[in-house]
Amino acid sequence: MSSESHVPKFANEIEIVPLTAAFCAVASVLHTDGFEDHWSEDEMIALLDVPGAFGFLAFAPGNDAENQLDIPLGFIQMQTVLDEAEINTIVVAKQARKCGVARKLLSATFDRLRETGIGRVLLEVADDNTSAIALYRHNGFVEIGRRKQYYRRKSGRSVDALVMERDLGLCVLGWDR
Ligand SMILES: CC(C)(COP(=O)(O)OP(=O)(O)OC[C@H]1O[C@@H](n2cnc3c(N)ncnc32)[C@H](O)[C@@H]1OP(=O)(O)O)[C@@H](O)C(=O)NCCC(=O)NCCS
Repeated sequence: MSSESHVPKFANEIEIVPLTAAFCAVASVLHTDGFEDHWSEDEMIALLDVPGAFGFLAFAPGNDAENQLDIPLGFIQMQTVLDEAEINTIVVAKQARKCGVARKLLSATFDRLRETGIGRVLLEVADDNTSAIALYRHNGFVEIGRRKQYYRRKSGRSVDALVMERDLGLCVLGWDR
């Protein structure tokens, strides 16, 4: 995969595949676009190795005829325990933001969780991360708590974490949305 040039303008140009160990080098590079303390390829492989862990990678398919490679756009990494799931991380390449990549990653994740009967998704997000909070609110998450001074920036500044939850609407006989 290449990290240059073409970024999709439309959500239907974005493809989603399971995040496997083979994609962890690409995911590790993407992670540097989002976080000060980025995860190495080995750390990502170790996280995916934990029972109940999974993820998805988003990419823009290349065009063989024009010798264009696939462009990695972003990924999500999840951890499930019993009937709950937690978003460990979600990140989209800077040049691919606000094109619906994160929305597609969340949608694929919710589908997978519903298929496995998991109805509750939790996450923590820094309370100054306005784009992520907007993403989560627009995708049905609500704030259920706050962890005071949970994150420590490289600058030394401490930032609260919001704890957010999304109920996937499972019911006893199946899921309703
Ligand atoms: C947060 C992040 C994953 C969003 O990815 P994205 O692909 O740009 O998000 P999408 O284009 O799918 O946006 C979906 C919705 O989220 C909201 N949103 C996303 N980015 C936003 C921004 N910068 N400002 C306001 N709303 C935003 C909007 O509601 C948007 O819907 P709309 O386009 O219909 O208005 C991306 O900004 C990122 O990688 N940030 C760095 C890593 C990070 O902070 N991850 C979250 C850690 S908890």
